[in-house]
Amino acid sequence: MKSCFAVSLSLPFFFFFLKTFSTEDAPEYLYHRCPNTTFFAPNSTYQSNLNTLLSSLSSASTNSAVGFANATAGQNPPNRAYGLFLCRGDLDMARCSDCVATGKQEILQKCPNQRVSVILYDECILRYSNQSLFSVMEQEPFFTLSNIWNITNSTKFMDVLLETMREVTAGALAGGSGKKVAAMEENFTSSQKLYALVQCTPDLTAWDCNTCLQLGNSHLFQGKRGGRVLTPSCYVRYELYPFYNASALAMPARPPLSPAPPLLAPAPPPPAPMTQPRGTFVFVLLVFLRANSPFY
Ligand SMILES: *[C@@H]1O[C@H](CO)[C@@H](O)[C@H](O)[C@H]1NC(C)=O
Ligand SMILES: *[C@@H]1O[C@H](CO)[C@@H](O)[C@H](O)[C@H]1NC(C)=O
Ligand SMILES: *[C@@H]1O[C@H](CO)[C@@H](O)[C@H](O)[C@H]1NC(C)=O
Ligand SMILES: *[C@@H]1O[C@H](CO)[C@@H](O)[C@H](O)[C@H]1NC(C)=O
Ligand SMILES: *[C@@H]1O[C@H](CO)[C@@H](O)[C@H](O)[C@H]1NC(C)=O
Ligand SMILES: *[C@@H]1O[C@H](CO)[C@@H](O)[C@H](O)[C@H]1NC(C)=O
Ligand SMILES: *[C@@H]1O[C@H](CO)[C@@H](O)[C@H](O)[C@H]1NC(C)=O
Ligand SMILES: *[C@@H]1O[C@H](CO)[C@@H](O)[C@H](O)[C@H]1NC(C)=O
Repeated sequence: MKSCFAVSLSLPFFFFFLKTFSTEDAPEYLYHRCPNTTFFAPNSTYQSNLNTLLSSLSSASTNSAVGFANATAGQNPPNRAYGLFLCRGDLDMARCSDCVATGKQEILQKCPNQRVSVILYDECILRYSNQSLFSVMEQEPFFTLSNIWNITNSTKFMDVLLETMREVTAGALAGGSGKKVAAMEENFTSSQKLYALVQCTPDLTAWDCNTCLQLGNSHLFQGKRGGRVLTPSCYVRYELYPFYNASALAMPARPPLSPAPPLLAPAPPPPAPMTQPRGTFVFVLLVFLRANSPFY
């Protein structure tokens, strides 16, 4: 009985540590959607615009500090193609552009001759359409994936998870026109931490980003050790292991309070003694874990 328990535990942990230090893996494909209603003819103007569009996005991904770009190709609406990509906020440019390059190939294989398509990876989202996508929140397709492992104290886990999601969502909304991403770790038990990362495309308003993330937060898995919710506009994931590179997301030190508070501002808070800002978005990197962990 005991040895059986030990084996079932140690096997995943063996793979866990094997995976931990490999960062060169291919992006983890999750899902794609093409509505099959909007085809273009081979060798048509739309196809050539689409190829131009995907090339622009691919080259933008090699040079994007925020891991996001939108692009258009073609002059006239019926054949004009619109597209964008979003990379997970902790990825460096090399891994971001690797994901977009993979998506550029695979989306055309999985959705041949389609005017409207989206492909979701754990590392990036790539989509195009014959209609403008910029600043449009999109909740379809709505993809969810649960960690297969059960949690022992689900009640306590959900309490910690909901509070963590509330804080991390607020952090992402504060991203402004830069990256709308936040991650944090929170104690669950004395030996386990919960890690969460949420992100919206930066073209969304804070209002739309919140709507997108709340939808994700309303689909958290009961009784499971982790889960993901992805739409074309936002990314939600939480696990009991570090699945993102926390040091890449560490917030820069807060700028000092401006000496003259703006007019009509509420009473300024008392000058803070030299305490560290509440640890919410300060992260300690333990290990970096590739997203396609064998926990799935
Ligand atoms: C779209 O077409 C492809 C290829 O014919 C097919 O595999 C897929 O199931 C279709 N999708 C929908 C949503 O009908
Ligand atoms: C599309 O163009 C290629 C190269 O110009 C040509 O080989 C192919 O036959 C064309 N296909 C169609 C369906 O016109
Ligand atoms: C991205 O979309 C915005 C809003 O439509 C537009 O102003 C901008 O030019 C677009 N960028 C590209 C590269 O198409
Ligand atoms: C996009 O393509 C679909 C199907 O061909 C068409 O019904 C729709 O009007 C197109 N949208 C635009 C903005 O051209
Ligand atoms: C998780 O719990 C469910 C129901 O409580 C059970 O059917 C399932 O086998 C468990 N899964 C694992 C991986 O332990
Ligand atoms: C689960 O956690 C809650 C809240 O911390 C605690 O009250 C409860 O006793 C725990 N249940 C088990 C079975 O450990
Ligand atoms: C989390 O747990 C560690 C180790 O048990 C402890 O040192 C730390 O203070 C805890 N952090 C919070 C925010 O409770
Ligand atoms: C994590 O991010 C930091 C800071 O950007 C970077 O120096 C480091 O190489 C990254 N680690 C991995 C494993 O990608």
